[in-house]
Amino acid sequence: MTTIIGISGSLRKGSLNGHLLAAAAALAPEGARIEVATIRGIPLYDGDLEAEHGVPEPVRELKERIAAASGLLLATPEYNSSIPGVFKNAIDWLSRPGSDIARVFGGKPVALMGATPGRGGTIQAQGAWLQVLRALGTAPWFGPRMMVSTAGSLFDASGRLTDEATGKQLAAFVAGFVAVVKRGDEQAVRTS
Ligand code: FNR
Repeated sequence: MTTIIGISGSLRKGSLNGHLLAAAAALAPEGARIEVATIRGIPLYDGDLEAEHGVPEPVRELKERIAAASGLLLATPEYNSSIPGVFKNAIDWLSRPGSDIARVFGGKPVALMGATPGRGGTIQAQGAWLQVLRALGTAPWFGPRMMVSTAGSLFDASGRLTDEATGKQLAAFVAGFVAVVKRGDEQAVRTS
């Protein structure tokens, strides 16, 4: 089984990005699983806290899940034309200590998607993420973009994706990313 960890960068119950991630997880093809993880419970990064207590438990747990997974799927909101602070903060914690970055993120395939009620589709946030993904030594996946604009009208009250065109686009996006992640898994088995 190929496992991908999916993380939404919004804490809201009604998060469009949370809904998008749930829809992506439901579209995982046979032989692959997208496990939805949360950044809830991760404190603000504080070097003093780290020096005194080390990496907090929710961060430690999520780090291990990412390290064990074959891929990472980030559903990013866009705030002020960039990455929301809560999401960046979570990744900053997950990058601690720096000596663990290669083990947790090194060479890891990462896909970006995002939803916004406006017209931009998170294009600027996704662009900003590339610098971070580069710093962590990941292998960003440059398949078709998944930028969901006017997302407020694409989900029903329960958060289910109801727009057919977006559903098709998302299915192709997930299939494309999973195929690449699976290939990486197969290669790792061959060379082990
Ligand atoms: C936003 N929003 C927003 N949208 C966008 O497309 N470009 C932007 O630059 C911003 N900036 C921004 C700043 C702040 C502080 C907030 C709170 C919001 C709107 C944002 O896309 C919208 O709130 C989404 O619904 C957030 O994602 P979730 O929580 O629905 O996943």
